[in-house]
Amino acid sequence: MQVIIVGDKEEMGRRAAALIAEQMRRKPHFVLGLATGSTPLPLYQELVRLNKAGELDFSTTITFNLDEYVGLPPTHDQSYRRFMNVNLFDHININKAATHVPDGMAADPEAFCEAYEAMIDDVGGIDCQVLGIGSNGHIAFNEPGSSLASRTRVVGLTESTIKDNSRFFARMEDVPTRAISMGIGTILEAERIVMLAYGANKAEAVAKALEGPVTVSVPASALQMHDQVAWIVVADAATKLRLEWGR
Ligand code: PGA
Repeated sequence: MQVIIVGDKEEMGRRAAALIAEQMRRKPHFVLGLATGSTPLPLYQELVRLNKAGELDFSTTITFNLDEYVGLPPTHDQSYRRFMNVNLFDHININKAATHVPDGMAADPEAFCEAYEAMIDDVGGIDCQVLGIGSNGHIAFNEPGSSLASRTRVVGLTESTIKDNSRFFARMEDVPTRAISMGIGTILEAERIVMLAYGANKAEAVAKALEGPVTVSVPASALQMHDQVAWIVVADAATKLRLEWGR
């Protein structure tokens, strides 16, 4: 595994954007897997900058997001569709029709999950998937205990994730408790994976995922089974690593 330890989150964003841009320039109709949360924001800012500077074209790019809350319409200010529009899609020359975020309002969520997987297959799979890690080691909404072979499905969120996410909602009762999430098996099928992490609250999860056993207790540890993963970790999230990574 490639582990790049950087000084701050702006550098994390620049390194990740450079990796992704280099791949995108080599393949038209690039299929980019995207994530939400605070973690990828520095990356999205840099992708916007590159696009505005005329250095990176998104006109033929196809995107798939990892997850969405069940019960939030796309217009809700905490929906992941809105997050993606506000933080990335509204600022780049992407065709919105080629951007996919799971539909949290799907009348038949199970059927939607199957259709989402089929859409990914139809475009030839994800070329590069961006990921963040939860403080409990989750990737997307695959909480501890998720099968390492899981597919896109409706999942329940753990108390710790509901608590982490409550900062974005007025009241604890408003935080959704279910989501549609790509599975770990789905994520592992991406050609390449770029995992981002910053902040001292992620240090434990980063160390367990990179250096601990592959276990359902730490969903991100499944990435050890993938041979094209780049971890870009800010020093404050790398304090608990013991091996000589990228030094
Ligand atoms: P964060 O969330 O980027 O808001 O820390 C990451 C995650 O839970 O996957």
